[in-house]
Amino acid sequence: MTPASRQFTEQLGIDVPLICGAMYPCSNPELVAAVSKAGGIGVVQPISLVYVHGYDFREGIRKIREQTDRPIGFNAIVEKSARTYEERMRGWVDVALEEGVRFFVTALGNPSWVVEKVHAAGGLVYHDVTSRRWAEKARDCGVDGLICVNERAGGHAGDKPYLALFEEMQSLELPLVCAGGIGDPVAFAEVLDAGYAAAQLGTRFIATDECTAHDDYKQAILDAREEDIVLTEWLSGVPCSIIKTPYVEKVGTKAGPIARRLLRGRKTKHWMRTIYALRSLWQLKRASLQGLSYKDVWQAGKSAGSINSVVPAGEVVRRFAAGL
Ligand SMILES: Cc1cc2nc3c(=O)[nH]c(=O)nc-3n(C[C@H](O)[C@H](O)[C@H](O)COP(=O)(O)O)c2cc1C
Repeated sequence: MTPASRQFTEQLGIDVPLICGAMYPCSNPELVAAVSKAGGIGVVQPISLVYVHGYDFREGIRKIREQTDRPIGFNAIVEKSARTYEERMRGWVDVALEEGVRFFVTALGNPSWVVEKVHAAGGLVYHDVTSRRWAEKARDCGVDGLICVNERAGGHAGDKPYLALFEEMQSLELPLVCAGGIGDPVAFAEVLDAGYAAAQLGTRFIATDECTAHDDYKQAILDAREEDIVLTEWLSGVPCSIIKTPYVEKVGTKAGPIARRLLRGRKTKHWMRTIYALRSLWQLKRASLQGLSYKDVWQAGKSAGSINSVVPAGEVVRRFAAGL
């Protein structure tokens, strides 16, 4: 292991510098637990835990805890949006801290309030970034590390290759985690050799036994080639990587002209994003649970091109660790 990776694993109290990133709607408790149990770290996606998998939030965390006492993480999407959403997120962060979670991944907004709460409890906050501008803001908020989301990532993708992103962020002197495009042990070793302290994976962990996503979704990942992964705007208003299914080919990947104007407007973009987010949460949940019987909108990154089998999540962690 490189010194950066060793420092990362020691900081988090884990064995392998590998994060199973939060995934709405795919982060079910069994998946999070299996990754942490195997020595990586699984991250809880609270909206997924409560609204897709049907747990009371605290009960969901305890369900994971029944399966492993190894460290787990929590994902706080901190985008400015409806007050009730922010209040709920604040409540979940408090409960996560009470239940012993000490690793937090923030995304899409200003992480200051999360940093304040988590640091007071002795925990760590890593923030998702796609460019230096957002990384500097996050550093000024006091985050402990950056998750560098590149152009190959599943979910909300960045627009830069992983090496360019590393060079752009390196002088900030924070631990850097690579997110995007890592589907096999070779790619994992490459990003760590390049200087990243760790890697965050999403798509690879959907194609596992413990992930409760529909088998059609898993099969679509196995079947997809890199060129079958396309960016769409109409899911959340920001570019999001999905599999080009016949349904996606039919509806296209662009938001309509009025929606685009509203998404860019200073005053209108927040409520437009909220509308998009609510619509997409519902659509992704149905597609993930119902498979081909529903309009298929399945998020996945370009790593899908290198994923050929559904295996236990712990096996993914062990195979990746063996390549180090
Ligand atoms: C289906 C799916 C849902 C995701 N949902 C979230 C989310 O709710 N919050 C978040 O911070 N990142 C989310 N991500 C991003 C992942 O945590 C991770 O950074 C990304 O998947 C890494 O790229 P990869 O899929 O190429 O491995 C999602 C990714 C996928 C594939």
